[in-house]
Amino acid sequence: MATTPFSKLAYKTLQQGKGIAGLAHKELSTKLMELLAPEAVPSTGSVPPDLLKDLRSSMAQLEERDWDEAQQGTYPESQLFDAPWLDWASRYPLVWLDLPSTWNRRKERNVRDLPKDTDRSLFPDYYLQNFHHQTDGYLSDHSAGLYDLQVEILFNGTADAMRRRVLAPLKRGLKHFSDRSPSSLRVLDIATGTGRTLHQVRGALPHAELIGADLSEAYLRQANRWLNTGQSPLVQLIRANGEILPLADGGLQGVTCVFLLHELPAEARQNVINEAWRVLEHGGVFVLADSVQLADSPQFHVAMDNFRRVFHEPYYRDYIADDIDARLIQAGFEAVTAETHFMTRVWSARKPAQPST
Ligand SMILES: C[S@@+](CC[C@H](N)C(=O)[O-])C[C@H]1O[C@@H](n2cnc3c(N)ncnc32)[C@H](O)[C@@H]1O
Repeated sequence: MATTPFSKLAYKTLQQGKGIAGLAHKELSTKLMELLAPEAVPSTGSVPPDLLKDLRSSMAQLEERDWDEAQQGTYPESQLFDAPWLDWASRYPLVWLDLPSTWNRRKERNVRDLPKDTDRSLFPDYYLQNFHHQTDGYLSDHSAGLYDLQVEILFNGTADAMRRRVLAPLKRGLKHFSDRSPSSLRVLDIATGTGRTLHQVRGALPHAELIGADLSEAYLRQANRWLNTGQSPLVQLIRANGEILPLADGGLQGVTCVFLLHELPAEARQNVINEAWRVLEHGGVFVLADSVQLADSPQFHVAMDNFRRVFHEPYYRDYIADDIDARLIQAGFEAVTAETHFMTRVWSARKPAQPST
């Protein structure tokens, strides 16, 4: 897509439209819940007067950064407008039809309502829950089909802009291997879900070999539909626990991991970070994105607390107080940096270029 004077306006208008649609959906669905399932309405902390102003200004900064990095060539401008619109439009009624079952689980505090045929031996116990009160947890095509749209609504249309913040640090880190051919670079996305981050990485690194790992076969099926549409090279998708990846030591130059850590108990968080270190080649880069935390965004404390109350997120309270920098260093990473973009914190870290002796 060629940049025209209208492109930025179009981008801003699109984001504004997504924001309004997300807010309207949440407002309406909450009203409906109050009317039809009042016992399911969660108690939330009152919103301080400055919170909405802070959120709006932080969201505007995210969008500026998203636009600027496209102009700098970190990823194609077309990515800013890229979404499976028709698919989402056809699935949107299902988001509404799914609500009563969500309210019911919330009302009954049932957080282990998973498909009957789930082979529980294939998953760690912490995974076998309805995160966000999601129907079937992460374990069905129904759940995988609704997930992207639900996340878009939750973040008022900024989910992809937040995910894209991993691309600049990833590309910077990969410069370490600039003497190699771009097609020799291998990048893994841990907990790739429906593959939206990998789709963005594909735009930013069109020649790299991409691999996605996730515990959910259903989410990987959705990722496969979305990513492997005939363009080459194909993305390799593997069902695996991020704590024990079926990949050799040191075979990758880049690893990303987006919106996983807050859904893991502390020990699993460290295990995933250790695994990222193990599978990276020396000099490789790890880019991690997840929710903001209390230390970097104290002004959003109430928003974080309300998120935990409204959605079933059993490890979130522990995550927002966790020291991720220390975990990265404990795993052996160096050059750890972190930035905040709206509701997302992005860490970048390097596996030392030389093995320690
Ligand atoms: C909140 S979603 C994030 C998905 C995706 N990265 C995104 O940006 O939308 C969490 C994902 O982590 C996956 N997951 C959770 N625990 C995992 C683990 N231990 N190993 C691999 N994947 C895991 C889930 O199946 C789900 O797809």
